[in-house]
Amino acid sequence: MPVTFQCMQDRYGHRISYLRVSVTDRCNERCTYCMPQELQEWLPREEILTFEETLRLVGIAAGLGVSKVRITGGEPLTRRDIVGFIRRIPEIPGIRSIGLSTNGTLLARELAPGKSMASALRAAGVGSVNISLDTLDREVYSQITGRDFHEQVLCGIDAAITAGFEQVKLNAVLMRGRNEDQLIPLIEFAAQRDLILRFIELMPVSTTEVLNDKNFIPVNEAKRVIESRYGRLIPEVEFRTNGPATYYQIPGRRQRIGFIGAMTNLHFCESCNKLRLTCDGKLRPCLGSYLEFDIMKPLRAGASDRELRQFLLDVVDRKPEQHDFRQNYQPNRRMIAIGG
Ligand SMILES: C[S@@+](CC[C@H](N)C(=O)[O-])C[C@H]1O[C@@H](n2cnc3c(N)ncnc32)[C@H](O)[C@@H]1O
Ligand code: SF4
Repeated sequence: MPVTFQCMQDRYGHRISYLRVSVTDRCNERCTYCMPQELQEWLPREEILTFEETLRLVGIAAGLGVSKVRITGGEPLTRRDIVGFIRRIPEIPGIRSIGLSTNGTLLARELAPGKSMASALRAAGVGSVNISLDTLDREVYSQITGRDFHEQVLCGIDAAITAGFEQVKLNAVLMRGRNEDQLIPLIEFAAQRDLILRFIELMPVSTTEVLNDKNFIPVNEAKRVIESRYGRLIPEVEFRTNGPATYYQIPGRRQRIGFIGAMTNLHFCESCNKLRLTCDGKLRPCLGSYLEFDIMKPLRAGASDRELRQFLLDVVDRKPEQHDFRQNYQPNRRMIAIGG
């Protein structure tokens, strides 16, 4: 049967072409801004979408105009046979680009002699990798993530570079009292490796204590610090990477850095093209909204493709104009459970 491609557009004109798929709520780290330090109960296996179920939903989304998928978590690389799963995504008609968000700790792991996890992912079809790195200080890294994995992440970044992805980006969440002294060191680190670095504002997606007036650093403040060192940053209005980051060039260099100012950028949601699928089968039209819709239920009750397609269209129709983060948003689901 020929595949017909439709387009998903919400009532505010957001065209949905990007699906973020969380494949697990588990993680080998415990970042303070993402999940509580104490041992958490993971979801039981039967409440997690199987790879088959996930692939079916990605296929349905692709039939509705989704062309880019990003695999996230929790830590996606902790899920067994993640490479085998990803290898099947390029077979889905309409999917043109596969990204992965990872903490980087497992990228350098050897799967076979001379073959790293990173190279296996590249061979499986992953084009772009986002690696979280908030600091170059090993001690502070341990404080932020609850684990002493800094060295593994640095090796993971090298493994990603060697694997030859189309794009490798570094993501640093801004936190006063933790990494405000790391802006320049991180920029130099990224420059030496020719990687794009993005600074992300802390968002209230975890427990309520995570974000407060004391530890929040607005991206404009980070930008000012960077400009006091390098001179005025040159806006790159034409450059986009599917997400809401705004990019700049450092004067006199080819280096590009980005800012993700979900809290302070009032235009943040205007170009939103995203839908999220959580690992337990909920569709979330917006990260900063309580809205979520259980697609696992109809899926497991035997819904047809047509019914699931309609479910997706209905979710998109409920997509809000913008997130609620500035409305004293109280998170009801941790980031790790949503998939950042
Ligand atoms: C939830 S993680 C999942 C993928 C992977 N485990 C990782 O750390 O990159 C995705 C991204 O969300 C970011 N993140 C998590 N909690 C956040 C928060 N409260 N505010 C801003 N970004 C956050 C992380 O830094 C990471 O870049
Ligand atoms: S940000 Fe990523 S690495 Fe850190 S706890 Fe969340 S999922 Fe794990």
